[in-house]
Amino acid sequence: MNSTVYTREFKDKLLQFVKDNVKQTRYEHTLRVIAKAKEYSERYRADWDRLEVAAIFHDAYRHEGNLEHGPIAADHLEKDWSVTDPEILEAVRYHTIGHAGASKLTMVLKLADTLEDGRPFSEAEVLRKALTDDLEASMLLVMQRIKAYVMKSGDDRFNETSQGFIDWLKERVPQDKEISMSIKETALQVAKALDAKKAQDIVLINIAERSGFADWFIIADAANSRLLEALADEAEDKMAQIGEELHHKEGVGESGWILLDFGDIIVNLFTKAKRDYYNIEKIWADCDSEQYVPERN
Ligand SMILES: [Fe+2]
Ligand SMILES: [Fe+2]
Repeated sequence: MNSTVYTREFKDKLLQFVKDNVKQTRYEHTLRVIAKAKEYSERYRADWDRLEVAAIFHDAYRHEGNLEHGPIAADHLEKDWSVTDPEILEAVRYHTIGHAGASKLTMVLKLADTLEDGRPFSEAEVLRKALTDDLEASMLLVMQRIKAYVMKSGDDRFNETSQGFIDWLKERVPQDKEISMSIKETALQVAKALDAKKAQDIVLINIAERSGFADWFIIADAANSRLLEALADEAEDKMAQIGEELHHKEGVGESGWILLDFGDIIVNLFTKAKRDYYNIEKIWADCDSEQYVPERN
């Protein structure tokens, strides 16, 4: 079926096979990947006819394992369904780990698979918004985030081949196209994580103009010293997930004030009494600040 048009009938049969072969939740994921791949195929001008085939089939053998299911699906697509188009097979084969020299189809499928609308990991929404029209720059950003996430979780879906993919992308993406997440977006992510752990009265202060050492202060308080420790751990975990490392930390729960210095972002966590006592917000009173307002539906 090389370079012919894949008919609706063929794709429907393929999708029916996937539906019968995987768990319901995986089938629903597949449908969301198809929808996302369609959206991104327009954005990045990928050939939808062939991408759709790859998106339908990419997880048809997901139960065969984290690292194996891509290659196994690609082999079946070729043998059982007579799909010989090398780019379709490559996209299916490498959708989990990527590889140096990946085709446009592979990259668009990888983006759609990572960022489909049902993805639970908290970075997904920030990443969707951060994508640009430069496919390779967008792919590089997403791979770097996957790497940071995987290192934290111990997932095996990132390996030497994936690192080779990152290195290859880095060589190809010009510096002015590289996407860096804005520091404020990162600060908001941390505020959101703190809010979810019951931090109170979270304030973000933009100190960039007045300070030579950081861009944003995040200030919040905790109901007690144990929660204060838990909030500090949460902030550290969140930043590690985003790929930002802790430069230094001062204070412990008992002291009523913990300071976490991440370079561009400094997190100050207090018990209520210590916050009132030090009143560091007053020191930065002439800087722009905002109360963190959580999104609630
Ligand atoms: Fe997969
Ligand atoms: Fe998938």
